[in-house]
Amino acid sequence: MLASRIQRRAFSASARNLSKVAVLGAAGGIGQPLSLLLKLNTRVTELALYDIRGGPGVAADISHVNTKSTVKGYDPTPSGLAEALKGSDIVLIPAGVPRKPGMTRDDLFNTNASIVRDLAKAVAESAPEAKLLIISNPVNSTVPICAEVFKARGVYNPKKLFGVTTLDVVRASRFVSEIKGTDPKDENITVIGGHSGVTIVPLFSQSNHPELSSNAELVNRVQFGGDEVVKAKDGAGSATLSMAFAGARMADALLRAADGEKGVIEPTFVESPLYKDQGIEFFSTNVELGPNGVEKIHPIGNIDANEQKLVEACLGDLKKNIAKGVAFVQENPGN
Ligand code: 2OP
Repeated sequence: MLASRIQRRAFSASARNLSKVAVLGAAGGIGQPLSLLLKLNTRVTELALYDIRGGPGVAADISHVNTKSTVKGYDPTPSGLAEALKGSDIVLIPAGVPRKPGMTRDDLFNTNASIVRDLAKAVAESAPEAKLLIISNPVNSTVPICAEVFKARGVYNPKKLFGVTTLDVVRASRFVSEIKGTDPKDENITVIGGHSGVTIVPLFSQSNHPELSSNAELVNRVQFGGDEVVKAKDGAGSATLSMAFAGARMADALLRAADGEKGVIEPTFVESPLYKDQGIEFFSTNVELGPNGVEKIHPIGNIDANEQKLVEACLGDLKKNIAKGVAFVQENPGN
């Protein structure tokens, strides 16, 4: 028995890769808790923290947490950014400005589009093989922005570009557990579409509680849950802690898949064949993850009449959000 335990341990040790993870925007509201959660993840061996200010300070602070990974902060210079990115397996981008009360995610476009475009350029140059996880809003547009930047440099790999929609899944399971008095870990709710308002489509008909698809209040709460936080923070920003949790969960899913774990499935916003015939290049559904990123994009599956209406509303907005991101890079290619 001891021998088999040692063998198992040897197997899991050899199956683990060294994993460098970079966070761009590491000193921000999402970046700091996200970096801390990544420091707690034993699959991360090297953590690279970059921001336009404060990266080295956050890194020095987090580096004292007594887990094995090394943490380094980088100067806010092009060479600092390149160094942070070099050799990264996963890059997360939470950089940008958050919403204030009354704003939609799309209202952030003008500021965040160029921030994400420029960071994507640096990733395309210094870590083109990395899996890139976009948190900066509006995700429905910033993911297409990254794709365009990568395409222009001939390094676009759709299997490695992800919009993080995990917070919608996290919220859906938590909100359902509050209604039903269950443990959220048992409430696996698939959320499809995009990451903004009506583009967020929870599929309760596929959950343990199919009747919840007619609960308009719950559906609305999942779609506009971010607004609750924006309102409660009263001008001080949007969700940072729960978003960091969601980003860390998505990074962990990719790290597990990279280490050979099978059946790792998360909804995420990726280039998808599902609605391409309607001119919608990106869509979030359940995606099976593997060592190279996207392994298999699942169809949406059976949905009921309520959800069919939600999908129709989603597609209209999503198409516009995606087109806006693509047009931005074409009109503003930057340097
Ligand atoms: C949210 O859903 C910040 O987009 C993030 O709250």
